[in-house]
Amino acid sequence: MGETTAAIARSRPDVDFLGIEVFTAGVGALLKRIDELALTNVRIVHHDAVEVVRDMIPADSLAGVHVYFPDPWQKKRHHKRRLIAQPFVGMLASRIAPGGYLHCATDWEDYAQQMLEVLGQEPQLANTAATFANAPANPLCERPTTKFNARGCRLGHGTWDLVFLRR
Ligand SMILES: C[S@@+](CC[C@H](N)C(=O)[O-])C[C@H]1O[C@@H](n2cnc3c(N)ncnc32)[C@H](O)[C@@H]1O
Repeated sequence: MGETTAAIARSRPDVDFLGIEVFTAGVGALLKRIDELALTNVRIVHHDAVEVVRDMIPADSLAGVHVYFPDPWQKKRHHKRRLIAQPFVGMLASRIAPGGYLHCATDWEDYAQQMLEVLGQEPQLANTAATFANAPANPLCERPTTKFNARGCRLGHGTWDLVFLRR
C-alpha cells in the first residue's frame, strides 16, 4: 500500500523514486500518502513491472532497485510466476547503472534461496555479501519495516535481504 515507498522517499528527498504497482488500491493509497506528506520525489507507474522495465526504462539508468516482499507464489507449480527469476533479472540488471544496487527482501526461505541462486548466476551482478546481506546494522540493507515484513515476523518467518551491485 505504498507505506515503504513513501517512508523511503521521505527519508531521501534528494533522490527521485519510481514506484511500479498493478494493484489499483495500492496506487491509490500511495497517491494519498504522497499528498499527505507533500512528497515531490515519487512517481508511480500503474502497470506490470516486467513490461515497464522492458519498455520504459533505458539501459544503465537506475541508481538502484528495491524489490521488497514480492509475491511468493508458494505452490511449486506457481514458482514460475515469481518476479525474481530469469529472464526478468537479466533485463532488470541491465537497466541499473554500473555501481548501482539491487536490493531484494523476502520472508519465504525457499524464495530467498531462489533469489540467491538466480542473482548469483547473473553475470551483470556481484553480491555484496557471501550469501545473504542481513547482518545487524549493515547499512546496505537498511529499509523500513513493511507490512509484509511485519506479517512474516508475526508468523515466525525469518527475513532474508540480498544486496547485489551492477558490475
Ligand atoms: C506481497 S506485496 C508486497 C508489497 C510491499 N513491497 C510490502 O513489502 O509491503 C507484492 C506487491 O507486488 C505487486 N505486484 C506483483 N506483481 C507485480 C508486477 N508484475 N508488476 C507490478 N506490481 C506487481 C502486487 O500487486 C503487490 O502489491
